[in-house]
Amino acid sequence: MAKTIVITGASSGIGKATAKFFHQKGWNVLATMRHPAGEKDLKEDSRLKLLRLDVEDKPSIDEAVEASIRHFGKVDVWLNNAGYGAYGPLEAGTDDEIRRQYDVNFFGVIDCIKAILPHFKANKSGTIINVTSIGGLMTLPLFGVYNSSKFALEGLSEGLWFDLQPLGIQVKVIEPGGIQTDFAGRSLTQFNLSQFPEYHAYSKSIVEKFTDPKYAKNFGTPEMVAEVIYTAATDGKDTLRYLAGKDAKQFWFARRWFGHRFQMAQVKKYFGI
Ligand SMILES: NC(=O)c1ccc[n+]([C@@H]2O[C@H](COP(=O)([O-])OP(=O)(O)OC[C@H]3O[C@@H](n4cnc5c(N)ncnc54)[C@H](OP(=O)(O)O)[C@@H]3O)[C@@H](O)[C@H]2O)c1
Repeated sequence: MAKTIVITGASSGIGKATAKFFHQKGWNVLATMRHPAGEKDLKEDSRLKLLRLDVEDKPSIDEAVEASIRHFGKVDVWLNNAGYGAYGPLEAGTDDEIRRQYDVNFFGVIDCIKAILPHFKANKSGTIINVTSIGGLMTLPLFGVYNSSKFALEGLSEGLWFDLQPLGIQVKVIEPGGIQTDFAGRSLTQFNLSQFPEYHAYSKSIVEKFTDPKYAKNFGTPEMVAEVIYTAATDGKDTLRYLAGKDAKQFWFARRWFGHRFQMAQVKKYFGI
């Protein structure tokens, strides 16, 4: 019998590439997104369904769980991929902007996990895969709020890895480096700096470095991340962490083998801080 994956944030980027990849591999796919009516690329068929799920809207999560079981009988993998990045100096972010970053990237994942767990527990099987980031293991300038939401997700995932294995449930995290999606164009929001002139020059020079084509030369593709997610879903191992991308592996190698002080000094040098 075909296995089933539910994906959050399948309207674009990594989520969409993963929906296509698993579909090609013969899986049933519930591609969830905030606005399925506007989806033109993913075509519904007997193994692919579009569903509305906004991770900030709990009833929509519960409805997606029910609909996925109704359509396909059983869910094997739940992929928490939806996320966005709020960036800028901390004090320029409003309370709402900072809390919303956590509502989507962290509490939204908690709500999804709590919603699917009864089904996984009843089956004594299931895999939860959380898309964090290499930025869940290290930080970059201006990205402390986004990175900390991913650090939180890393910690949650590691804790759940212990707690859920005795129930037959696996927990995995995918840590992409820079990926050629439209994340920077559609999923980044900058804090308003107008009241904080002391950060203007600093922010400008950091953003210039981020947008330098040299920075993006090692970026991976969403299809490559989809393949890593497929490995995580199917390898039958209890591995928690899967790095995705050359730059993610380079960053992690430096941090792991030379220590965080060395790796942070490298980041400082690159950004000219
Ligand atoms: N691209 C990178 O370099 C990179 C690196 C490391 C980690 N990541 C992580 O990878 C994941 C996917 O990002 P991406 O690169 O594929 O970017 P993307 O193409 O911009 O996709 C982001 C997805 O998240 C969805 N989303 C945002 N807020 C949501 C909400 N409240 N409820 C449900 N869905 C929501 C978006 O839906 P809408 O279409 O409705 O906006 C979109 O489908 C994110 O968690 C991101 O943090 C990305």
